[in-house]
Amino acid sequence: MTSAPWWASESYWRKTAIWVTGISFVILILLTFDSVSQITAGSKRVPAYSVINQRIDYKFDEKRNFQVPVIGQEEPLFGKKLTEQEAEALVSLGKKTTQAKNCMDCHTLLGNGSYYAPDLTKAWLDPAWGSKEAREQLMVDFLMDPSDKLHNALGRRMPNLGITREEARGVVAFLKWMSSIDTNGFPYNFKPIDQSDPAPAAPATAAAPEATGTPAQN
Ligand code: HEC
Repeated sequence: MTSAPWWASESYWRKTAIWVTGISFVILILLTFDSVSQITAGSKRVPAYSVINQRIDYKFDEKRNFQVPVIGQEEPLFGKKLTEQEAEALVSLGKKTTQAKNCMDCHTLLGNGSYYAPDLTKAWLDPAWGSKEAREQLMVDFLMDPSDKLHNALGRRMPNLGITREEARGVVAFLKWMSSIDTNGFPYNFKPIDQSDPAPAAPATAAAPEATGTPAQN
């Protein structure tokens, strides 16, 4: 009786299949836990919800070769500083609204969704809002009734989705929080709205353009 070489035996391949399946299963579980820890709010790349109390800006990182979020000075949304719980409730209302109203039918969030309308990952920082102070209110107004407003040069209009004021405020909080996520440079090379504070008016001795001066009192 000629026995098959070891690498052709049935039991060898059966054992190999069991080991490969088993090890892949363990690796998948470990990767799942690793991903969850990296996408949870309050981790290194995904700030806690109370980040909506602060200024979110971007600056180019030479080493990583793209723009990275810079969490700046206190700048509460709608002028009211929220606790972590309050911030989470507001952001969560906004997230649920984006799901209930199917924003992804037209938009992408963090790159997921449809390409009819702009990606919303950094919508909070879109220069088209005009000014950093006015945008919160402009965004609420826009979300509650976008159909008669042309926001940018896209030429397409967003329909009125019957969003309440409270839901719109939640969406703005959700968008502000989302803009603080370190997305490894996505979307590439976007231009954030100018958020520098006006330089102090007093002794203006050749102020360098990047001088930010003391924060404006507002
Ligand atoms: C039927 C398609 C459609 C749906 C659904 C939709 N939008 Fe829009 N949205 C648009 C279009 C088109 C624009 C661009 C309008 C413009 O520039 O005037 C836009 C623009 C925006 C902007 C401004 C983007 C920027 O970069 O400044 C925001 C914010 C926004 N939408 C949020 C939402 C949210 C939140 C939802 C869900 C509640 C939603 N949209 C659902 C079509 C849609």
